Amino acid sequence: MTILVIGATGTIGSAICDSLESEHDVIRVARTSGDIRVDIESPESIRDMYEEAGSFDAVASAAGNAAFNPLDELSEDDFGLSIQSKLMGQVNLVRYGLPYLDNPRQGSFTLVSGILSQHPMPGSAAISMVNAGIEGFIRAAALDTPDGVRVNAVSPPWVSETLEEMGEDPSDGVPAAVVAKAYADSITGSASGEVLDPRDYA
Ligand SMILES: NC(=O)c1ccc[n+]([C@@H]2O[C@H](COP(=O)([O-])OP(=O)(O)OC[C@H]3O[C@@H](n4cnc5c(N)ncnc54)[C@H](OP(=O)(O)O)[C@@H]3O)[C@@H](O)[C@H]2O)c1
Repeated sequence: MTILVIGATGTIGSAICDSLESEHDVIRVARTSGDIRVDIESPESIRDMYEEAGSFDAVASAAGNAAFNPLDELSEDDFGLSIQSKLMGQVNLVRYGLPYLDNPRQGSFTLVSGILSQHPMPGSAAISMVNAGIEGFIRAAALDTPDGVRVNAVSPPWVSETLEEMGEDPSDGVPAAVVAKAYADSITGSASGEVLDPRDYA
């Protein structure tokens, strides 16, 4: 398969690439580097990316920002960024990517949400909102996609490498390589309209 990995230079995205590249053609996509560049906040940039990539079999997204701040400190711009980047950026990957699938019957889109959709914490209102939006979107979009195109989300808990960067105990999280297993299952399996929890792949 030819697989576009969006956010390929990040903690989760690089683990996805590492896990897939021995068996598949992986096209690494990120905002500031990679085989192809895209800013998912811009629909035009997404359309340009798909034109440059040509046809493919799957898109795996581990990209998208959202603001983390207490509710009374979250600004219009914080909510706007969260919606435009993590939510609509990924929704638009599906909307604009559908026509480029090489073989829709094997085609899939895998988006990223996150544990804060179901298990919020103080300061997570904007992130929890967009993560829940992604999960609602994939469940419904999977009912509408043509020719059996599958749409899923992976909902990571804290990733060990991220906790380590934050000076926290990495054993409280799941390694990025395990998160990548959930993506691989979404891409090569039969799930559609499902939210995959990497803890099931540990
Ligand atoms: N790490 C965790 O513990 C964790 C847990 C749950 C959910 N998540 C979610 O998983 C996703 C990835 O997390 P991560 O820790 O792997 O992030 P990361 O290490 O910061 O990497 C983010 C990746 O996304 C790309 N990116 C960011 N904004 C973009 C944009 N507007 N357009 C295109 N590419 C963009 C970055 O490229 P550039 O560097 O070129 O900008 C980079 O490749 C995030 O949405 C995060 O909320 C992460």
